Amino acid sequence: MQQLSKKFITLFQTFSICLMVSFVLDFTLSSKANAYPVFAQQNYANPREANGRIVCANCHLAQKNVEIEVPQAVLPDTVFEAVVKIPYDQQVKQVLGNGKKGALNVGAVLILPEGFELAPQDRIPEEMKNKVGNLYFQPYTPDKKNIIVIGPVPGKKYSELVFPILSPDPSKSKNISYLKYPIFVGGNRGRGQIYPDGSKSNNTIYNASKGGKIIQIEPGEKKGTSNITIETSNGEQVVDKIPAGVELLVKVNQSVQADQPLTNNPNVGGFGQKDTEVVLQNPARIQGLIVFFLFVVLAQVFLVLKKKQFEKVQLAEMNF
Ligand SMILES: *[C@@H]1O[C@H](CO)[C@@H](O)[C@H](O)[C@H]1NC(C)=O
Ligand SMILES: *[C@@H]1O[C@H](CO)[C@@H](O)[C@H](O)[C@H]1NC(C)=O
Repeated sequence: MQQLSKKFITLFQTFSICLMVSFVLDFTLSSKANAYPVFAQQNYANPREANGRIVCANCHLAQKNVEIEVPQAVLPDTVFEAVVKIPYDQQVKQVLGNGKKGALNVGAVLILPEGFELAPQDRIPEEMKNKVGNLYFQPYTPDKKNIIVIGPVPGKKYSELVFPILSPDPSKSKNISYLKYPIFVGGNRGRGQIYPDGSKSNNTIYNASKGGKIIQIEPGEKKGTSNITIETSNGEQVVDKIPAGVELLVKVNQSVQADQPLTNNPNVGGFGQKDTEVVLQNPARIQGLIVFFLFVVLAQVFLVLKKKQFEKVQLAEMNF
């Protein structure tokens, strides 16, 4: 009997401690990027395609990493930070639109759950304003306030972007519930390789349009450009125009295959996407949880007292 009750007490204590630990972990409120978002805004009604791909990847062909940090849970009608990190080697330079070399810009699109939006200026705490800096965030479209775009901005200063976000209030809007929601982010550093109209930028690799022998390499009309004439095996001649900023890898009299690179790949940037989750937390549940914790603590205290009493009785029994 005595053995059994001791076992029961230990078991109950272990169980309640586990329960507490798991709840604390579950409820802690702290947790855990296309330089030209305007192109996406103009060309796509929704920046995230049905298959989950963010459309920036259509023009920014290289894949690079992006990170996002948001609180694990947020209370309704509360301002919180979403931190988007777009890491890259700050020393590298890219080919600019004018063919010269220069620093990289960054940009990002943040796809929040319906109802979440950019926090209004007057709700952002001073400390958070400092972290945000001079960034001009924009809703993707006037009717998609939950999708926020930023950029292009200088990557040296803003390789970490702080988005000030306001959570919705389910008691005010009927279509919002206390749930766990997904958040998607796309982040980019550097210029794109393809324009939305399908034309190539000078920040990409240029391949031979046909296989054959290179019979001529001439400077093009504009400074730094070249025209490469390839003669195919049946005598046809094609001219591949190479813009300024990329380096030629081929020489006259060299034979090339179709799609063989004629230039280096000058692109040092790239685009990446990530997703995470946020819980819109019902404050009533937290209050309930606190009551529950008190209850657990009290239950433990009583059990310990009971145990002590039990031991006293045992001692008394031994002493007669
Ligand atoms: C690329 O380089 C050429 C110069 O060769 C320039 O005319 C063109 O505007 C550049 N920019 C882009 C974005 O292609
Ligand atoms: C050009 O060549 C590179 C390297 O072989 C290849 O990865 C790329 O897909 C080619 N691009 C085109 C447009 O064919």
